[in-house]
Amino acid sequence: MSDDDHLKNLLNFIKQGKTIIKDRNVLHFSYLPTTILHRKNEQGKILQSLSPILKHSRPSNLLIYGKPGTGKTLVVKKILKLIIDDNAKENKFPIKLVYTNSKDEMTLYGLLVSLGSQLGLKSQKPLTNNEDWLPKTGLSISMVFNIIIKTIIKNKFNTVFVIDEIDNLADLVSKTGKDILYQLTRANERIDQGSLTLIGISNDLTFKERLDPRVISSLSEEEIIFTNYNAYQLKEILLDRIKHAFVDDNSVEESALNLCSALAGREHGDARRAIDLLRVASEIAEREQSSTIKPHHIKSAYRKMEEDKEITTLKSYSLHEKLLILSVLKAKKFYTGEIYTIYKEFCKKISQKELTQRRVTQLLSELELSGMVSGRIISQGIHGRTKKYTSSISYETVVNTLKNDTIFYDLI
Ligand SMILES: Nc1ncnc2c1ncn2[C@@H]1O[C@H](COP(=O)(O)OP(=O)(O)OP(=O)(O)O)[C@@H](O)[C@H]1O
Ligand SMILES: [Mg+2]
Repeated sequence: MSDDDHLKNLLNFIKQGKTIIKDRNVLHFSYLPTTILHRKNEQGKILQSLSPILKHSRPSNLLIYGKPGTGKTLVVKKILKLIIDDNAKENKFPIKLVYTNSKDEMTLYGLLVSLGSQLGLKSQKPLTNNEDWLPKTGLSISMVFNIIIKTIIKNKFNTVFVIDEIDNLADLVSKTGKDILYQLTRANERIDQGSLTLIGISNDLTFKERLDPRVISSLSEEEIIFTNYNAYQLKEILLDRIKHAFVDDNSVEESALNLCSALAGREHGDARRAIDLLRVASEIAEREQSSTIKPHHIKSAYRKMEEDKEITTLKSYSLHEKLLILSVLKAKKFYTGEIYTIYKEFCKKISQKELTQRRVTQLLSELELSGMVSGRIISQGIHGRTKKYTSSISYETVVNTLKNDTIFYDLI
């Protein structure tokens, strides 16, 4: 059979094949569900915290914490929409609720421009001279900031800036050395007409430790913590998605659903992970032409996602980190000393200057933290202690990931 005939047959097979998915978008990360389950308290608290704005006073700054996938972005977006829609009906005074995600911005300047443009500031020079505008580049951070504050005062805007994944902003700030977080949290003191409140959202629970104490005290005038979902709550969230995503409520077998919720609940109760797992499992089931999703589809999806995660992490590593992973895989007894010897041989083969044993030991500990290798301390009696390392990623996955990189040709 020619290649073209083979493709035609495959196309017919796909077209005639059974499908269990009714609406794929429902399982996509951008989908906004109409029902938010198990977050009644958090929704209430955020609405309460922002409620002064409806009475023309300034809400307190708010810091929202919680592990990834616990519904922070979803809940905040819903409450913002609720207030915006309510205000649009009555329109008593100008409210501006502005959302931005610091992960989407490469620079601090970009983040401020995004906030400014949502306040209506144009990036093109206006025809009349007395109109404010905010060019996409070229000004200093404090000039941009002043233009934003001036706009709030001039228009008497009651403003809330939501900065999602604010830990990234803290990183941008520490890189550029600007005191912008401090200025943002205190900006209201400079505003005599209108107001500015800051809502920061973070999934990095240690992020506060990296901040200036002055920033912490003003940013966290109020705090709300999103706790992890348990397996039962994840199951209910999944059940709601299943209703909208699949042809039939029974498309996902009960035992598969339980496994999916248990696996996602095992780490830290991440709803995103639970939904992703179901989506990948549904694709595997569909490819197999199965009429339902069974536990083994969930297991395969879990393995695939773990492997994808490992591949992405491996690709992001430096050359020496990659060499170390390979050395751990090639080592027979897995001791630090032996791993270092193999690593040095690798460096020699590819004409790279080796790092010191001390640095390598440090890198191994970092790899251990990221879960790529696991280490165990072994006592050697009078000879002290050493560490034994094993790799968590398979040799096959490492070879498949690195084989296209010419530098590894002679090593794998
Ligand atoms: N209570 C819920 N009901 C329905 N869907 C939910 C619920 N909580 C989270 N989700 C879904 O799970 C996914 C992750 O939620 P969300 O993006 O709000 O998490 P997050 O806490 O902001 O995570 P991160 O810290 O990684 O940004 C989204 O697809 C969201 O729609
Ligand atoms: Mg989020």
